[in-house]
Amino acid sequence: MAVERTLMLIKPDAVRKGVEGKIIAHVQEKGFKLLALKKLKLTKEQAQQFYIVHKDRPFYDELCEFMSSGPIVAMVWEGENAISRIREIMGATNPEEAAEGTLRKLYGTNVGENAVHGSDSPESATVEIPFFFSRLEIVE
Ligand code: RTP
Ligand code: MG
Repeated sequence: MAVERTLMLIKPDAVRKGVEGKIIAHVQEKGFKLLALKKLKLTKEQAQQFYIVHKDRPFYDELCEFMSSGPIVAMVWEGENAISRIREIMGATNPEEAAEGTLRKLYGTNVGENAVHGSDSPESATVEIPFFFSRLEIVE
């Protein structure tokens, strides 16, 4: 077991539904500690940069349009095995295939508009956390 930090985003569909507070409470109730949080709106160029690993995927343009279509909430969470455990709490990419009780099942719209993002590995978290937060904005 290792204490990890992970980046989570509440995507524009979930912000439009007004479920930011429910999502934050859900993660907190699982025992994770919130270290940083901000609401912001990405430009399309910033969304393209954030999801650059998907640049050759057919859904890349649609994804970047969506992620820059409205405000998002960015957060850093800390806890034991936070990276893999928060991915479990989020559920499968497609909300229709996500397990009961997961964030995507509860709040996702469809495979593209799926309510939340979470870092998928320690390497991703190391890149994604500083994309949104400086060291001074991360408070234990
Ligand atoms: P995320 O990176 O946002 O946490 O999601 P993920 O790991 O579960 O899924 P990933 O394969 O990394 O895909 C990133 C995001 O792209 C959108 N997507 N659309 N239309 C499609 O078939 C499709 N597939 C993926 C979703 O917003 C997905 O979360
Ligand atoms: Mg991913």
